[in-house]
Amino acid sequence: MKIRLVQDKDCAGMARLQRATIRHVNSKDYSEDLIKVWAGRTNAKRFRDSAYKCKRWIAVEKDRIIGFVEHGDDDELWGLYVHKNYVGKGIGSRLLNIAEKSLKSQGVKIIKIKSTITARKFYEKHGYKVVRKTLHPVENKKLRIFIMAKFTKGIGPE
Ligand SMILES: CC(C)(COP(=O)(O)OP(=O)(O)OC[C@H]1O[C@@H](n2cnc3c(N)ncnc32)[C@H](O)[C@@H]1OP(=O)(O)O)[C@@H](O)C(=O)NCCC(=O)NCCS
Repeated sequence: MKIRLVQDKDCAGMARLQRATIRHVNSKDYSEDLIKVWAGRTNAKRFRDSAYKCKRWIAVEKDRIIGFVEHGDDDELWGLYVHKNYVGKGIGSRLLNIAEKSLKSQGVKIIKIKSTITARKFYEKHGYKVVRKTLHPVENKKLRIFIMAKFTKGIGPE
C-alpha cells in the first residue's frame, strides 16, 4: 500500500470509494433514506471543484484507491474514508497521521473534525474529544454528527 497526493485523474475513484463506504460502512449508523441522499450527492466534480482549497492524499493498492483523507486551508480535517474491505487494517490511522502533520505544519494549534457517528470511536482513539453534537445539512436531510477537536501539540513534524 502506498500513500500519495491526489491528482485530478483520481477524483472519480475517490467519489466511487466514498459512495461505497457510505453505503456499506456508515449504513449501520444512519437511516436508509439518509444514506441514499448522502451517497448520491458524491461525485468526481465535487472533488475537482474543491481541490483548490484543500490538501488530499489517497492510499493506493494495486492501482486501486482504498482510502483518502483531506483537510482544508484552515484548521479543519474534512474527510477520511477507507474502502469497506480494508477497514480495521490501520489505513485510516496512517492517513489521519499525514493530515494531522500537514495541518500542524500550517500552524494549526487545534484540529477540528465533523465526525460521523461511525468514526467517533476511531477519532477518540486518536486523542480527539467531542466538543458538541450537532446536525449537519446534507441536501434536504440532517446528518447527526459530532464536532471533535484535538490539540496538535505532541504531533510530530511533517
Ligand atoms: C473511520 C475510518 C476512517 C477508520 O479507518 P480504519 O482504517 O478502519 O481505522 P484503523 O484500522 O486505523 O483503526 C484504528 C483504531 O481505531 C479503531 N476503530 C476504527 N474504526 C472504529 C469504529 N468504527 N469503532 C470503534 N473503533 C474503531 C480500530 O479498532 C483501531 O483500534 P486498535 O488500534 O486498538 O486496533 C473507517 O472506518 C471509515 O472509513 N469509516 C466510514 C467513513 C467515515 O465515517 N469516515 C469519517 C468521516 S468524518
